[in-house]
Amino acid sequence: MAEKSAKLLLNDAEYELPILSPTQGPDVLDIRKLYGQADVFTYDPGFTSTASCESTITFIDGDKGELWYRGYPIEQLAAKSCYVEVCYLLLYGELPSPTQMEDFRNRVTRHTMVHEQMHNFFRGFRRDAHPMATMVGVVGAMSAFYHDSTDVNDEWQREVAAIRLIAKLPTIAAMAYKYSIGQPFVYPQNDLDYAANFLNMCFSVPAEKYTVDPALSRAMDRIFTLHADHEQNASTSTVRLAGSSGANPFACIAAGIACLWGPAHGGANQACLEMLREIGTVDRIPEFIARAKDKSDPFKLMGFGHRVYKNFDPRAKVMKESADEVLDLLGIKDNPTLQVAKELEKIALEDEYFIEKKLYPNVDFYSGIILEAMGFPTSMFTPIFALSRTVGWIAQWKEMIGDPQNKIGRPRQLYVGAERRDYVDLTAR
Ligand code: SDX
Repeated sequence: MAEKSAKLLLNDAEYELPILSPTQGPDVLDIRKLYGQADVFTYDPGFTSTASCESTITFIDGDKGELWYRGYPIEQLAAKSCYVEVCYLLLYGELPSPTQMEDFRNRVTRHTMVHEQMHNFFRGFRRDAHPMATMVGVVGAMSAFYHDSTDVNDEWQREVAAIRLIAKLPTIAAMAYKYSIGQPFVYPQNDLDYAANFLNMCFSVPAEKYTVDPALSRAMDRIFTLHADHEQNASTSTVRLAGSSGANPFACIAAGIACLWGPAHGGANQACLEMLREIGTVDRIPEFIARAKDKSDPFKLMGFGHRVYKNFDPRAKVMKESADEVLDLLGIKDNPTLQVAKELEKIALEDEYFIEKKLYPNVDFYSGIILEAMGFPTSMFTPIFALSRTVGWIAQWKEMIGDPQNKIGRPRQLYVGAERRDYVDLTAR
């Protein structure tokens, strides 16, 4: 029983609501029995004040601009770890020993190829299909190709599905890219690390040798780590809700990819770069700032603002440093898009509107600049976010499925529709 509780006075009755205390973050008012006791619902569209679950995976302090994976600050993981190790940490809760790391890396490496029949599946799409459309379709189809790891009640099958998804998402994303540009698919290479393998599958062609630049591979790996998980964001909540019905893991991740695609969420990295290109030059920034502040204009500064962060998104800080590093490495001087981005950030952060509403650059503000410099088209930005976030989605899904308290998610509503009325025959209307 919770030590603390809150009292609710309602319709001349008093109700005691337990208060649950977290390791970090705000206390939680437990309203699970409220409807049964008081015959009222709570109302929170957009879940601005609602905890949907209990989790041990990721913690965000939006006011301080902190992000921890299993308690480790993102800045330290981005600087000292690697994406495959972060996958282990998110899935199993602890940093791996050298033996555990080697075993996990081998298991992921040996699942990177996809069923050969999937090549035909790809050919059903138009070449100009957005790679996110292809990924939603192909990942959903994994439940048909990998039927032997779809039983959510079998812990071993859950484990195999998790490894398959982490291992195959880069291959599927690279195939979606190759298919969209009419180049042949490139098979994974087991002698390359996770990020280098992805770059090779995207940028090598059978006609000539291709060597992955280790510094670019490191930058790619860092981008994967920065996007790996983020508490109960829209796409993770989608995966949890889909999983709560007992849907198989591939269908749940496909649902997460579909949700991530939206420009208010993971689609913002593509929308942000397109916005920066539309602004074009520093002298046009005031015009766009004015539009972002104009309530009658639906325009928002893409890559700015966040439901949780009311301070700098710590991932944006790391991404900004990485942008300078990658452009320098590639010998790209005075990149106009980066210049516009930096000036836009400076002007916005000095503007009363952004200060008052606590709008800061988020993870999507600088990522597109790096990805474009690496050679990716904007249509590949969200697929890269999706492949990075797959481990977070699957870790959150496993945590939910493994919880004996887990039940189907089924929100209620505030009904404001018609009163009960009788049907009127067509001839009488
Ligand atoms: C991601 O949840 C996550 O953790 C997501 C994510 C993850 O890792 O999973 O971090 C990834 O999705 C990052 C966010 C990417 N989206 C964008 O960059 C799109 C632009 N940002 C906005 O659409 C918005 O900031 C959201 C969607 C990110 C957050 O929206 P909220 O929390 O619902 O806040 P809001 O829209 O109610 O905004 C509060 C106020 C509003 O003004 P008022 O109605 O109070 O007068 O701030 C304004 C908004 O109009 N505002 C903006 C703005 N973002 C919010 N005004 C101009 N430009 C913006 N970008």
